Amino acid sequence: MSTPLVPPSVLVIFGASGDLTSRKLMPALAELIDRGFLSPQFTVVGVARTEMSDDDFRGRMAASVEPAPQSWTEATSRFRYITGEYTSTETFGHLAEVLNEIEVSMGGICNRLYYFAAPPSTFPILINSLGQAGLNKPTTAGGFVRVIIEKPYGRDAVSATELDTVVHASFDESQVYRIDHYLGKETVQNLLALRFANAIFEPLWNRQYVDHVEVTVAESIGVGHRGGFYEEAGALRDIVQNHVMQVLALVLMEAPATMDANGIRDEKVKALRSVVNFSEHDLEQRVVRGQYAQGLSEGEKALAYRGEEGVSPHSHTETFLAMRLTVDNWRWAGVPIYVRTGKRLPKRVTEVAMHFRAAPHLAFGQKLSKKLEPNSLIVRIQPDSGISLRFGAKVPGQAFMVRTASMDFDYETQFTEEDLDGYERLLLDALMGDQTLFIRADEVAEAWRIVTPLLHAFSDPEFPLASYAAGTWGPAEADALLQRDTRKWRQP
Ligand code: BG6
Repeated sequence: MSTPLVPPSVLVIFGASGDLTSRKLMPALAELIDRGFLSPQFTVVGVARTEMSDDDFRGRMAASVEPAPQSWTEATSRFRYITGEYTSTETFGHLAEVLNEIEVSMGGICNRLYYFAAPPSTFPILINSLGQAGLNKPTTAGGFVRVIIEKPYGRDAVSATELDTVVHASFDESQVYRIDHYLGKETVQNLLALRFANAIFEPLWNRQYVDHVEVTVAESIGVGHRGGFYEEAGALRDIVQNHVMQVLALVLMEAPATMDANGIRDEKVKALRSVVNFSEHDLEQRVVRGQYAQGLSEGEKALAYRGEEGVSPHSHTETFLAMRLTVDNWRWAGVPIYVRTGKRLPKRVTEVAMHFRAAPHLAFGQKLSKKLEPNSLIVRIQPDSGISLRFGAKVPGQAFMVRTASMDFDYETQFTEEDLDGYERLLLDALMGDQTLFIRADEVAEAWRIVTPLLHAFSDPEFPLASYAAGTWGPAEADALLQRDTRKWRQP
C-alpha cells in the first residue's frame, strides 16, 4: 500500500442520491481508498433532496461497489448524509455543522472538495449558497476548499459566461475544477506523451506532412434511460463541445513550455482559438446532423431514437454529428479536421487518426501498390488503448508489391502498472490540487464559441436532419462530406 497522497479531506457530493454518484464516483473512491491514496480519515458527505438517513446512505454507497473490499465497507461507515433543498439556507447551515464535526473528529484541518453531481440548473444556486454560508473559504484551521463542476458547463456561450460570473463571485479560479472525464483517460493524456516526449513525431505533426485528421467518438449504445436529458443535449452538447474539443485541443496544440496546469491550458486554449468559425453559408456543406432510426445494434433489434423513453416522437435532436473543421494557424492551415460522433454506431471506439500525405512518387508502379494507403498514425483512446502506425511494406514474393502493414503498440501488454480510470484519476488530482486535467474558464468559452453557429442552425427545424439505421456508421451524407474532398472515413 502506498503512503496517502491526499491529506485528511472530505468530499461533499451534491446530487448524492443520483446515478453519477453510485455508478462512477463511489467505485472510483473505493479504488483510491483501497490503493491507499487517500488518508484513512477521508470521508464523504452526501447532500440531496431524497429523504435518507446516514445509515441508508452508507448502505447504499457500500452496495454501489461490487465486490467491495473491506476498506470500502469501513470507509462508508463514516459517511454522512444531509437531506435538503439546495435553495434552503437550512441545508447549508446543517452542512456547516456536519463539516465542523468532521473537522473536530479529524483533530484539526479538514480539507473540503465539493462535487456538483446535481442537475446543471442547480449549479448557480449551489455556488451562491456555499458562498453565502461562508463555506467557500477554509475555516480558521486552514486547508483547501475546492469545487468540481460536472458538465455541461452552461448551455451555450452566454450561459457559460454567466455561470463563470457566479462561480468567480464565490470561488477563485484556482479553486475551480471543471471536469471532463475524457481528460482522465490514460490514452488521452498519452497524446501529450506521444507528441512531446518523442523527437520523431513532432517534426511531422503539421501541414507539411499531415494531409488530414480524423477524430471519431463512436458509441454502440443508444440513449437508454437518458432520453429526457439527451433531448436537451444532443450529440453537440453531450460530446462535441466537451470531449471532442478537449481531444482536439491536445492534438492541435503547440508544445507547452512547462507541463504544469497553466502551461498546458494556455496552449490548449490557443489551439482552440485557431479553429475557424463556421459561417452561415457554408454550414450545410461542413456539418451533417443525423438521428438513428431503428436497426440492428450488435445483433439486437434497436429502437429508433424517436421511440426511446423520454424522447419526443417528432424530435429533431441529433444523435450523430459529422463535421469538417479548419484551423487558421501556421501549423494547421489547409489541413481539414474531420470529426464524427454518434450513438448506435456499429461499435464503441474513440480514436484520433493522423493521415499523412502520400509518398510523392511510387517507383514500383501503381498497379503493384494498389493496396498501399498513405501512412497514418492511429491513436486509439478506447477500447484496447494503443497506437498503430500504418506504413507500406513489401509483400513477400517475387514481385515488388507493396501493401499497408501495421505496427501496433498496445497499452495493456507494454505496461504492467495498474492504471487509474478517468474518475479515479480526476478525483485524485482534484484532491491533490492539480488542475492540469481540468478545464479552465477560457477553454470552455472557446469550445462554446466553436459550436455556437451549430447550436443556432440546429434550433431551426428546417436544418437537414439525416436518418441512419441503428448499427451503421451514420447517414450517407456523412460519407458525402468526405467524398467532396475525395477522401473517405477510416473504418476503425
Ligand atoms: C458522457 C456522455 O459524457 O460520455 C454520454 O454524457 C456518453 O452520453 C459518455 O455515453 C461516453 O463516455 P465513455 O467514457 O464511455 O466514452
